[in-house]
Amino acid sequence: NPTLREVADRTGRFVGTAINDGRLGDTTYANIAKSEFSSVTAENGMKWGSVEPNRGQFNWAAADRLVSFAQSNNQKVYGHTLVWHSQMPNWLANGSFSNSELRTIMTNHVTTQVSRYKGKVQRWDVVNEAFNEDGTLRQSKFQQQLGESYIADAFRAARAADPGARLFINDYNTEGTGAKSNGLYNLVQRLKSQGVPIDGVGFQSHLIVNQVPSTMKANLQRFADLGLEIVVSELDIRMATPADSTKLQQQAANYKTVAQTCLAISRCAGITVWGFGDRDSWVPGTFPGQGAANLYDDNYLPKPAYTAFRDGLAGS
Ligand code: G3I
Repeated sequence: NPTLREVADRTGRFVGTAINDGRLGDTTYANIAKSEFSSVTAENGMKWGSVEPNRGQFNWAAADRLVSFAQSNNQKVYGHTLVWHSQMPNWLANGSFSNSELRTIMTNHVTTQVSRYKGKVQRWDVVNEAFNEDGTLRQSKFQQQLGESYIADAFRAARAADPGARLFINDYNTEGTGAKSNGLYNLVQRLKSQGVPIDGVGFQSHLIVNQVPSTMKANLQRFADLGLEIVVSELDIRMATPADSTKLQQQAANYKTVAQTCLAISRCAGITVWGFGDRDSWVPGTFPGQGAANLYDDNYLPKPAYTAFRDGLAGS
């Protein structure tokens, strides 16, 4: 049987996974990560709190491990994430800075991180989760102090640091049409009309079994029609646990639908799943009573979703 990456290669798409670099020493984990996926995203290792735990002191250990794993295995690296309200280091989250100081802190961070991985990270989530559910901009520290211009400044700093990297804005609950997706769409249009260097939009796609938005294809297509690349950036499809065969079959069909949705959009560059083994998933910790969201079970055995997802990537 072909692997996911072999099948995705045939249509020029990448198929990626989030990686917890602390798990790479487990051979079962590492073998699936390298054989099945053509792209990797650091689940946590490239976030601001990981790489700059103290102001101006960078710790690249986890990020470097991921990049070298990818290089050894002929994988792309998807950089996640440069500017985000969550997982900020304490010095930044709790510190008080003048507006101009904060802007410099932000652009320095972007410049330092993107420069370090110049030519090695093909795509960056420059700004993550900038929106509230009603489509207004989230009042993050950056938005509160700097206003919307923080977004343009982050993209400009990233472009200057690596002109070859494709720059993304990424969010969740934007997969279907609605207020949040409209807010994102309007922002992206504004950025493009202002000449801000943005190349793509990531749709996280933390979905629920049987609730893949019916408008997902049309919604992703309208963003693609702005001339942007589209990625499904953090796919998982959770259910109430314990799993049973009915729910697992429904989940499989849902994974296939998402794969087919990407294939139907010529500018959809690929899909990243947010980890591959149920045992590693963030879901049960955040949504007690839910889980079993991934392609492989707690023992790293492929679930029905694995085969269905591969069929979807194959266009069948
Ligand atoms: O590393 C510390 C460890 O030292 C400490 O002992 C332990 C105690 O809680 O925490 C560890 O940090 C945890 C970190 O994951 C690494 O395991 C954090 O508490 C935990 O909050 C963090 O969760 C991550 C979450 O982002 C944080 O917001 C998840 O692993 C990660 O899957 C999740 O990923 C996000 C994307 O970045 C953005 N989109 C949504 C997605 C799911 O929430």
